[in-house]
Amino acid sequence: MLNDLTIAQVSDPHIGPAKYRGINPRQQFLDVLQVLAKKPLDLLVLSGDLTAVEGEPEAYTWIKQTLATFPCPYILMAGNHDHVARMKRVFALPDSSVKNGMLYFSHVVKGRRLLFLDSSPYRIAKRQLEWLSTLSEPKEPALLFVHHPPLKCGCQFMDEHHALQNIDEVWQVLSQCPQIQHIFCGHYHAEKTVIKNNKFIHITPSTVFQIETQNPPFSIEHITPGWRIIEWKEMQVQTYVEWLTPPFYH
Ligand SMILES: [Fe+2]
Repeated sequence: MLNDLTIAQVSDPHIGPAKYRGINPRQQFLDVLQVLAKKPLDLLVLSGDLTAVEGEPEAYTWIKQTLATFPCPYILMAGNHDHVARMKRVFALPDSSVKNGMLYFSHVVKGRRLLFLDSSPYRIAKRQLEWLSTLSEPKEPALLFVHHPPLKCGCQFMDEHHALQNIDEVWQVLSQCPQIQHIFCGHYHAEKTVIKNNKFIHITPSTVFQIETQNPPFSIEHITPGWRIIEWKEMQVQTYVEWLTPPFYH
């Protein structure tokens, strides 16, 4: 009998010192946490781009203080707007999670295997891919989390300007990992699921704003915060995106 596992994935909160285009990222993050705190979660995953620019320590400190009262454990990932050494210092991340300056690790919750990669330099380093391939032996099912989607996925602006740079190299390894059926990403500020090589790549919206997927130039589609719920029951993974609704937003 396998344990049921429920995860909330919150992505790209971009906590900064000020408002962005009239949006208040801190308040939107707080509003999302207020909703999630009422859910029966086993884990909260913050899938990168925690800060506005490049890993401002003050933003990390604010996030740490904010999450101190959150009712379930949380895991942090690095995005391209993060700074791993500062994350390690502020959150006192263990040495086992930060290796050669990269935040990648395996974590077991309720007997379920979760894998986390660091794509913050727009690449997944060869060292991480070698580590991932060594984990493929037991064929134990695992969920993979990585900030950048490991493919181009029909979001024009992000695909053209901000895609992961070593997609082919990453897929050479992923295709050798049958235990990974679901990959959870952020970075694109959009809701989308794409299937490649029988794997589901789920892209989770931001808590700040969503990017129009059909236009080549950058434009904001809307500013309603979203997050993803992941339910792993027996051998089945179900996942869906939820949006902040009134009374928060109109
Ligand atoms: Fe990003």
